[in-house]
Amino acid sequence: MANHKRTLITSALPYANGPLHIGHLAGAYINADIYARFLRAKGEEVVFVCGSDEHGAAITIRAKLDGITPQEVVEKYHTTIKKAFDDFGISFDIYHRTSEPLHHETSQAFFKQLNATNKFIQKESQQYYDPEAEQFLADRYIKGTCPVCGNEDAYGDQCERCGSSLSPTELINPKSTLSNATPELRATSHWYFPLNDYEAWLKEWILEDHPNWKKNVYGQCKSWLENGLQPRAMTRDLDWGVKVPVEGANGKVLYVWLDAPIGYISATKQWAADHGKNWEDYWKSEDSRLLHFIGKDNIVFHCIIFPSLLKAHGGFVLPENVPANEFMNLEGRKISTSKNWAIWLHEYLEDLPGKEDELRYVLMANMPETKDSEFTWKDYQTRVNSELVATLGNFVNRVVVLTNKYFEGEVQAITGAELNEVDNNAVKELAEFAGKIDADLEEFRFRDALSTMMDIARLGNKYLGDREPWQLIKTNEAATANVLNIGLQIAANLAIAMQPFLPKAAGRLVAMLNLSETNWNQIGQAFVPGGHQIEKGGHLFSKIEDAVIEAQIQKLQGSIQEETPEVELKHPLKSTIEFDDFVKIDLRVGTICAATPVPKTDKLLMFTVDMGFEERTIISGVAKHFTPEDCVGKQVCVVANLAPRKMRGVESQGMILFAEDDEGKLIFVSPQAGTQNGSVVA
Ligand code: 2FM
Ligand code: ZN
Repeated sequence: MANHKRTLITSALPYANGPLHIGHLAGAYINADIYARFLRAKGEEVVFVCGSDEHGAAITIRAKLDGITPQEVVEKYHTTIKKAFDDFGISFDIYHRTSEPLHHETSQAFFKQLNATNKFIQKESQQYYDPEAEQFLADRYIKGTCPVCGNEDAYGDQCERCGSSLSPTELINPKSTLSNATPELRATSHWYFPLNDYEAWLKEWILEDHPNWKKNVYGQCKSWLENGLQPRAMTRDLDWGVKVPVEGANGKVLYVWLDAPIGYISATKQWAADHGKNWEDYWKSEDSRLLHFIGKDNIVFHCIIFPSLLKAHGGFVLPENVPANEFMNLEGRKISTSKNWAIWLHEYLEDLPGKEDELRYVLMANMPETKDSEFTWKDYQTRVNSELVATLGNFVNRVVVLTNKYFEGEVQAITGAELNEVDNNAVKELAEFAGKIDADLEEFRFRDALSTMMDIARLGNKYLGDREPWQLIKTNEAATANVLNIGLQIAANLAIAMQPFLPKAAGRLVAMLNLSETNWNQIGQAFVPGGHQIEKGGHLFSKIEDAVIEAQIQKLQGSIQEETPEVELKHPLKSTIEFDDFVKIDLRVGTICAATPVPKTDKLLMFTVDMGFEERTIISGVAKHFTPEDCVGKQVCVVANLAPRKMRGVESQGMILFAEDDEGKLIFVSPQAGTQNGSVVA
C-alpha cells in the first residue's frame, strides 16, 4: 500500500502565448488527469494544480509579433487556455496564473530566502545589449549563424536546425531581433545559482535513489549529470516578469524557470485558501507525495534545477517522480505553432462538439510514453469506430437493450442451476481485473492501463457473442436472465474502470445503469444486485463519418499551405552567389583517422583528418548522428580554408561536409574510393 498520505499532482504550466494543441494534451495533461481521477476514485487525498506561465521571452516575443502588450497577450491566452481545459474536462483542482500577486509574493519570498542564506553568487558578466532598443537581450532575442551547422537563423540559446544548445556569444554575426542592430557586449550583474555544487547530491538523489524513474527521464538526467552542471543565472534584465526583490536590482526580473515552477506552490496556496486547507500539508510534510507531469523539453528544469532550488531553500518535499512524456507528431510532421501544423483544442471542441472522450481515447492510445508518437486523423477514425463504437459502445448497448427488452430493465438474480462453464469463466475472468489497472497506473503505464480497461469491454463482447442471449431467450429464459446479469456486471465494472480514462462516457454509462454509488475497489466484483433497475439503452459513442475526417485533413493541409508556402523544400534554396564567391571556398578530400566525443557536450565530435599535406583537428556537431567508430576511416570533403574557430577550448580547423536528407539524417559526402587525400574538390 502507498506510504504517502496525500499526493500533489502538477502539470507543466503552459506559456500563455498561444492556444493549446493535442501535443500539449498528450504530453502533460491527459496523463496527469487520468492519474488524478484514478486517485480520487480510490478515495485518496489528491490535489491537481496547474496554471498559466505568463512570464519570460515566450510572452514578450508573442506580444511583439502580435503588436500588443505582454499584458494583453497573457489575458488573451490565459482565457483561451483555461476555457479549453475546462470544456475538454481536465479536472484541475485549480488553474492559477503566474501574474497573480500571490505568485509574485511567493516567488519573491523564495528568492529572498535563498539570497539571505547565501545560496546565490552575484556575478558581473558581459551580455548582449541592443543599443537601439536600449535593453539587454534575452537569448531568444538574438539570432545569428550557428557555429556548429552554419544555420543563419539560429537563436541565442539553441539552433533549431541541428539541435545544439548555444549561448548567444557563440553565434556568428549576431543580430538583435528587436531592431536588427548588431548587439554589443555590456557588463551586467546577475544572481547565479551554483548548480555545480548540487551535482554530487543530484547524482545520489536521482541516479541512486530513483532508478525507478522512466527510462527517458532517467537517461536525460544521467547525461546532464555526466556532462557536468554549470552555475545558472536566476535573474534577467527584462521589464516583464517578477521583480527581483532586493536593493539595486532595478530593471531585473526573476528567470522564468525560477518563477514558473514556484507557480505550483502559489497555485497550491490559492487552492488551500479557497478550500480552508493548509498548503504546507502538500509541500512541507514528509507524508505528502509530489508528482510533476511534463513534456521531455522540461526534464532538466523539473528533475535538476527546481529540486536543487527546493533543496537549497530547505523545508520542501522533492518530487517523488517526474513521469515525462516524449513528443507527439501530427500526420508525419512535428507539431509546429509557427507553421500552424497543429490540431488546436479549442477548434476541435467547436468542430466536433461532444467528442471530448473520443479525442482523449486516441491521444491516450498513442501517448508518447516512451518515444515520440503520431496522431493521424485516419487512426482517430479507426480507433473511434472500431474500438469505442464497435467494441465498447456496442457491448454496452446490447446488454442494456436486451435487459430492457426481455426483463423490463430489471437485473435478474442469478439462478445457480442454469449457470454453465462459459458463464462461470466470464465471472472468473472479470474477477481477474481487480488491481490490474492499478498496477499499470501506479507505474505510469497509461497505454497499458487503457488497454486493460478495454479488455473488460472485449470480455463482455466475447461473452455475449458466445452465449447469444438473443437466441437463448427462445429456449431458456432463466439462462438468459443469468447471461444478462453477468453482462450487466461486466458493464458496471466498465462504468467504474472507464472513469479515469473516459470520464464523460463513464458518467453516461453510470446514469444508464442507474448506479448511484460506485467505488474503484468494486472492479472485479459482480456487485449489481438482483432487482436493480436500469435505464433505457443508448449509444455511448457514435461513428465518425469519412466526410468529417476529410474535412479535418483538408483544414490541416489548408492552414499550412496558406501560411508557409516554403514547406515544399525543407531547406529553401539560398540566394544566388557569384562564381567568384564560390571559388573562394577551398574544398579538399581528407580521411578521418581518429574521432572522439568532446567532453561535456553530447553534440560534438572531434576528428583528426588526414588532409594529405597535413593533419587537421575538426569539430562537428554530429555526435547525435554518428558514433566515433562510424567515422574512422571515412573519406570526406573538407572546407579547408574556413577561418579556425575555438569550440570548447579546442581550435577547429575546417569543416566536414555532410548531406542531410528530408528526415534530418546526415550522410558523409565522400569521394569515390581511392581518391588521394588533399585532392581539390571543384
Ligand atoms: O515549456 C513550457 O511550456 C513551460 N511554460 C513549462 C513551465 S512548467 C513549470 F515549471 F511551470
Ligand atoms: Zn546548428
